[in-house]
Amino acid sequence: MLENINGDFKNKDILSLDQFSTEDIGIIFRLTRKMKDIAVNARPSKFLEGKIVALIFYEPSTRTFSSFSAAVKRLGGQTIEVLDPQHFSSVSKGETLADTIRVLEAYCDCIVLRHPQKGAAETAARAAFFLPVINAGDGTGDHPTQALLDMCTIHEKHERLDNLTGVIAGDLLNGRTVHSLIKGLSLYKNNTLYLLSPGELKLSRQDYTNFREKGINLIKIESVKDMPGNADFWYWTRVQKERFESFKSYEKVKNKFIVTKELVKKYAGNKTIIMHPLPRVGEIDIEVDSDPRAVYLRSQIHNGMYVRMALVSLVLGKNES
Ligand code: CP
Repeated sequence: MLENINGDFKNKDILSLDQFSTEDIGIIFRLTRKMKDIAVNARPSKFLEGKIVALIFYEPSTRTFSSFSAAVKRLGGQTIEVLDPQHFSSVSKGETLADTIRVLEAYCDCIVLRHPQKGAAETAARAAFFLPVINAGDGTGDHPTQALLDMCTIHEKHERLDNLTGVIAGDLLNGRTVHSLIKGLSLYKNNTLYLLSPGELKLSRQDYTNFREKGINLIKIESVKDMPGNADFWYWTRVQKERFESFKSYEKVKNKFIVTKELVKKYAGNKTIIMHPLPRVGEIDIEVDSDPRAVYLRSQIHNGMYVRMALVSLVLGKNES
């Protein structure tokens, strides 16, 4: 079902980083630079004039929803925004995801979907006859546009996406941003990722095996003492409360690892960037925010809009701005 991009994004569903090659990512980043120029300099753009993108979010979102919405509008397009369809659409009357997609594709040119079930974006892509579907996060599965913006942020700082050493911490079992980022960095050579999590939140055996087969070097650790000094990036993540069966089991594992000024002083290097897909709920101390190496409230969120401007444009068949 997953269709490789092969340099041609037009009308392709964007479901997983498994569809991408390094050349495809290069195409996105080249256009992202042009999109940044449009946004930063408030250049009026008609790039997506006449295009309508539907944003259907079955799960809450601040960044992904707002940045997709802003991305389309910055380029002169328009959006249909269906938030919480379980209450504010006919999903509340029992309409299926497939039927909802079939209806919305009559009104727009591209569908962006967030859904709590792993695989829902693929289901939606199968249901859509005419239009591309972009996965904006499917349960514990994937979050490909987040990985693209994360990789863009790493590339901006280090000018490469190979020969990197990174620390990925938190909920590796349930975190879709982590799954997509590992897939993305697996496309490049000689990357080593230290995976820091409590035993209960390790990558699933299947994910671990699948990722290792892609050739990336993964090192599981359960203590900050085993973190490498001077990593190129830290990627901290939230423990995904909404994926737990009981509050008690969540409480047992939440915030085992917290980024503090002391941790940064002890283990980060001058060039280490501190990343987080956000939202954070205590796993990065706010005192760290003012450290210039902390990019989660700076370039990482800005890049989210620029990358999505580029991706939506490419999927709608636009490349030159
Ligand atoms: N990073 C991310 O997906 O944030 P939102 O849930 O706010 O979209």
